[in-house]
Amino acid sequence: MDLEALFLGGTKGLGLSMAKIALKEGWAITVAGRTSCACSIVVEGLAAGFLLDLEDGAPRELSKAFDLIVWTAGAYQEGPIIGLSRGDIRSICRNHLEGPVSFLVPILQKNRELGRPVFLIVVASSSSFRVRTNEGLYGTNKAAKAQLARTLGQELPSLIPGSRVLLANPGGMATPFWDGRGRDTSGFMDSNAVAACIWDEMQSQNVPFKEIHVVRQSDKSPKVEYGARLPE
Ligand SMILES: NC(=O)c1ccc[n+]([C@@H]2O[C@H](COP(=O)([O-])OP(=O)(O)OC[C@H]3O[C@@H](n4cnc5c(N)ncnc54)[C@H](OP(=O)(O)O)[C@@H]3O)[C@@H](O)[C@H]2O)c1
Repeated sequence: MDLEALFLGGTKGLGLSMAKIALKEGWAITVAGRTSCACSIVVEGLAAGFLLDLEDGAPRELSKAFDLIVWTAGAYQEGPIIGLSRGDIRSICRNHLEGPVSFLVPILQKNRELGRPVFLIVVASSSSFRVRTNEGLYGTNKAAKAQLARTLGQELPSLIPGSRVLLANPGGMATPFWDGRGRDTSGFMDSNAVAACIWDEMQSQNVPFKEIHVVRQSDKSPKVEYGARLPE
């Protein structure tokens, strides 16, 4: 049986870059997101698509076990916190935390039922520990996501022996994340290069939990650093 990987937020950007690496390595891929039907690798018949809106109060359920879950889904916060509407606040919290947790728990339950170990890659951000104005709620959700990954790094290997968790905090990447925001991303990292770093770290991980930072260097190339960071 092929190894099966789920990319939660694999329709574009970093998730799609990672899904393409997995495809080359022979994984069977499912890509989840609002635009999964239009995702290039789904349209080409190389991956299965799962239509999912994490901001929906009751996201669709996918009750199936996977060997690898890559959680990259995320959306930006537009402007200062005092400018956010109730709807914006709910969307951001659902997008980054409530939606993914509601979606992932039944999958993890399936893995447990089957005794099938899972490798979970959680992509947070440098905003999970670095204070940035106008990113208050975004950074807060990223910090929560990072702490969830650290906790799952202890919990999953005991609930489902053989499971592992990798928490990756990337810096700025030139992806559709910034589309229409007037941000100059010319100095940002290429998502394919960041994906390759994270994939290499996943493949060499022989401990239950690892936390990495994919740091942007002056020539835009990514550099991996290790361990949790204090807030700054
Ligand atoms: N780009 C950066 O500079 C940067 C830096 C640090 C960390 N990050 C984080 O890295 C992750 C990947 O970012 P990226 O740059 O690859 O972003 P991206 O190109 O905008 O891709 C975001 C992915 O998340 C999915 N997504 C967003 N909202 C969703 C929703 N409501 N329901 C389901 N799926 C949803 C999108 O799928 P659909 O559109 O198909 O729904 C897409 O696949 C994000 O968590 C982001 O916060 C990004």
